[in-house]
Amino acid sequence: MRTDRTFTMLKPDSVEKGNVGPILEKITSAGFRIAGLKLTQMTKADAEAFYAVHNERPFFGELVEYMTRGPIVAAVLEKDNAVEDFRTLIGATNPADAAEGTIRKMYAASIGENAVHGSDSDENAEIESQFHFAGRELF
Ligand code: RTP
Ligand code: MG
Repeated sequence: MRTDRTFTMLKPDSVEKGNVGPILEKITSAGFRIAGLKLTQMTKADAEAFYAVHNERPFFGELVEYMTRGPIVAAVLEKDNAVEDFRTLIGATNPADAAEGTIRKMYAASIGENAVHGSDSDENAEIESQFHFAGRELF
């Protein structure tokens, strides 16, 4: 299992607010290389499958609605220790708890609309990358 790749989505609120450029700049400035990148929109079935781990949670319906309401930017990012370092860069799930200078602190409005996704394990990074990208789309 490789440890140098993670998967991210710049969520619909980031696209709507015009924050894609600034967030990508922050990601590459932190030392991540972009291995794959696309603007895409998830269907309801996509979002339900992607976040299936949360399907019993009270916020699941809201989460699916949010993640499908407009396009996202999906990306595969490469760096040593990618998963952990990217979670540090994005900050806590709730922007109110996120450290100064993190992406969620800077760009997220609330726990429900928190600007970015980051994989939580090497295994999930691989699964989530394959969910959004074909092999020929990764470089
Ligand atoms: P993500 O998977 O998107 O990177 O976020 P995360 O690991 O920091 O947080 P997770 O627990 O996996 O939750 C997934 C997403 O569900 C939404 N959420 N809403 N209203 C709420 O209480 C609540 N809690 C979670 C957020 O969009 C969160 O990122
Ligand atoms: Mg998560």
